[in-house]
Amino acid sequence: MRAVVLVGGFGTRLLPLTLSIPKPMLPVGHVPIIERLVAQLGRGGISDVTLALGFKPEPFVEAFPSGECGGVALHYAVEPQPLDTAGAIRFAATASGIDETFVVVNGDVLTDLDVAQLVRFHRDRGAEATLHLIAVPDPSAFGVVALDGEDRVERFVEKPAPGTAPSNLVNAGTYVLEPSVLRRIPGDEKISIERATFPAIADGRGLFGLATDDYWIDTGQPEFYLQANLDVLAGLRRNDRCQAVHPDANVDGTATIENALIGPGATVGAGAVVRRTVVLSGAAIGEGAAVTDSVIMGQVGPNASVHDCVIGATGVIGSGEHLHHQRRPQPAPK
Ligand code: GTP
Repeated sequence: MRAVVLVGGFGTRLLPLTLSIPKPMLPVGHVPIIERLVAQLGRGGISDVTLALGFKPEPFVEAFPSGECGGVALHYAVEPQPLDTAGAIRFAATASGIDETFVVVNGDVLTDLDVAQLVRFHRDRGAEATLHLIAVPDPSAFGVVALDGEDRVERFVEKPAPGTAPSNLVNAGTYVLEPSVLRRIPGDEKISIERATFPAIADGRGLFGLATDDYWIDTGQPEFYLQANLDVLAGLRRNDRCQAVHPDANVDGTATIENALIGPGATVGAGAVVRRTVVLSGAAIGEGAAVTDSVIMGQVGPNASVHDCVIGATGVIGSGEHLHHQRRPQPAPK
């Protein structure tokens, strides 16, 4: 079976990390998100993945020069301009000649869902489209569904105002679609599957949802990107684990690394303390610095203290500086 993975978004909520690396290429447990995602699809019987690319396509093509990732064949569809989720699915599926039931995944979602289970459920219901659903405490930031007694989606509401959500079951970003869904999407137009296509399919009674309690995280915001890394480190993923310190990292023997990941080529100086933090490839933490609850791609000077910060590749924290709850460089105002 074939899948389309959406990887063409701007990743604005993860700025400034996404200034230099597109979101799905950011590492979780030292491995790019897209690689973990494609490997999980392969375990569920997906043989071919088309990456729906737009913004910054080159890093994907360069990362997988053989056109293969974890035993799954990769194809690339590069949009001439951003088409939003439905437009991107139509463009990528058409470009790669998909004309059978297929799977779609948001490129920033990590889950232990067995996609073969979702496909079986879809076929058993005779669905036109099937969503993977997850129960969350606060659904207001997601697409929320109301199901009837036969798992049919009665209503699909994208990001309802707090307190108005019809349930706590949300769209978890993995779908099974019939090719007829493509004919619902006007060509070459910017259009959202969440706001336009799913509500229309629900109106025609063809949209179903399978709720599971598999591991699931949307890595699109800094706190969740950090959490996804800590989860792999803690062994919470069924098939994935990682070491805290990558063998190619350079960590001084007197540094303290607690519940943190240090990527290849990163350095941590003498006496530095790093807790609940991801130090990405190429980053440097100076001697005596204290870094907590942060994601670091840039440079942290000696004896600086950094808490709850996101530091991009060009971000520099000066010697002895104290930084709390900030992004460097600061994203430009919209
Ligand atoms: P934010 O800017 O932080 O909202 O991130 P995003 O741009 O990735 O948007 P969002 O997380 O809502 O997108 C969900 C998925 O769809 C992600 O995997 C995106 O890469 C992808 N996506 C969003 N818009 C487009 C688009 O216009 N084209 C393509 N190909 N993918 C898209």
